[in-house]
Amino acid sequence: MKVFLKKGKEKKVKHFYPWVFRDEVEKIEGEGIVAELYDSEGNFLALGTYSPYSRIAFRVLSYEREEVNEEFFKRRLRESELLRRDIPSNAYRLAFSESDLLSGLIIDRYGDAFVIQVRSYPMEILKEKVLKTLVEEFNPAFVYERSDFKGRREEGLKEFKGLLYGKLENPLIIEEREFKFLVDVVEGLKTGFYLDQRDNREYVRNLVKEGDRVLDLFCYSGGFSVYCANRGAKVVGVDINKRAVELARENAKLNSVKADFVLGNAFDFIQESKEEWDLIIADPPAIAKTKKEKESILWAIWKLAYYSFQKLKKGGSLFICSCTYQISSEEMIRQVRLASTDVKRRIIIKSLNLQPIDHPYLPTFPESLYLKCLHAIVID
Ligand SMILES: C[S@@+](CC[C@H](N)C(=O)[O-])C[C@H]1O[C@@H](n2cnc3c(N)ncnc32)[C@H](O)[C@@H]1O
Repeated sequence: MKVFLKKGKEKKVKHFYPWVFRDEVEKIEGEGIVAELYDSEGNFLALGTYSPYSRIAFRVLSYEREEVNEEFFKRRLRESELLRRDIPSNAYRLAFSESDLLSGLIIDRYGDAFVIQVRSYPMEILKEKVLKTLVEEFNPAFVYERSDFKGRREEGLKEFKGLLYGKLENPLIIEEREFKFLVDVVEGLKTGFYLDQRDNREYVRNLVKEGDRVLDLFCYSGGFSVYCANRGAKVVGVDINKRAVELARENAKLNSVKADFVLGNAFDFIQESKEEWDLIIADPPAIAKTKKEKESILWAIWKLAYYSFQKLKKGGSLFICSCTYQISSEEMIRQVRLASTDVKRRIIIKSLNLQPIDHPYLPTFPESLYLKCLHAIVID
C-alpha cells in the first residue's frame, strides 16, 4: 500500500514528526494497514501504519523499507530494552508508542508480566504479532491488555481489557530500588502503576528529613508516600478512589513504613488543613482534550498551589505535577507564580522535572512530552 502526500506536506515527516493527518494525504494506492509514505514527487519518506477511520491517517514505524513482522517487533523491543538498561526497577514502560517507533502501542513490563495498550486500528491488527514476539522474547508469566479507554473509538475500536496469554496473577508485586509495590493491573489506573513518577519519587525522598510533615495529594497507590515515609517523614496521603487508598495502605505495610491514608477530595483536604507542612506533593489527574478541560486543569493547578503556599512552612516545598501534553511548562510556572503572589509569599522554582527514560520525549514530537513537575520552595 502506498500513501502520497500533498505538495509541501513532506517537510514535517522529514523533520521526524511521526503523524500524517488525513487532509495532508493526496492519494492512496492499494489496500492494507502497512503502508509506504511518499512525497508528491514520488520519493519514499517512511514506512508506517495506515488507519482507515482516524483523523491521523498515517503513523511512522520506520524511516527505511522493511517488513513489519515478528522480526521487526523483536528488533524494536531489543532497542527499547537497551535504552532502559539502567532503570532501578523490574517495572518499566518497554514501549512508549511514537517515542519508540511503535506508534499505537504501549507495553508496560512488571517483572515477568506485561500489560499492553493498543491505541490504533492497524496496531490492533498487528497485535497477534506483538503478542507472539513478547512470548518468544520474554517468556512472560502473562500478558494482559488494558485498552479500556475512550480514545479507541476514534480509531473505530471498542474499549477492551482482558488476559491475552498465560496465568493472571493480580495484584502482582514489583520491585523499585529497595521498595516493593503492589500493582493492580486489572482494576488499577493506567496499566496499574505510575511508572512515570519513578525518578520523581527518588527526587522527593531526597527533599525530606526525619520528622518532616509531608502531604501527598492524589496519592494513588502511595508511591511518593512510601518513599518519604522511608526517610522518617510523617506522611498523610489523600485520594478519592477507594481502591487507590487500599493499595496505598497495603504498600506502606509491604515496605514496613507508617503513613496515614485518607479517602477524600484532595481540594477540600488542602483547603481545610490546619497543619503546617514541610512538603506538599500534588499530582492531580489531567485530561485536557477540550479548551474547557484545559481551563479547569489550569484552575486546579492555581488552586492547589494557592492553598499549598498558605500551608507550607517557611523553607517548605511544593512539588506539583501536570500529566497532559496540552499544559506547557510555561503555563504551569505561570499558575504557580500567580498563586504565590496571590498568597503574598515569595517562592523560587528549584527544578522542573520531566518524564523518565522509559517514557522518552521526542523533541520532534511535542505531544510526547506530557509530564511536568515543578518544585517550588517558599522562601519567606
Ligand atoms: C495522576 S494520579 C496520581 C499518581 C500518584 N501520584 C502516583 O505516583 O502513584 C491521580 C490520582 O488522583 C486521584 N483523584 C482524582 N480526583 C481526585 C480528587 N478530587 N481528590 C483526591 N484524589 C483524586 C485519582 O484517583 C488518582 O489516583
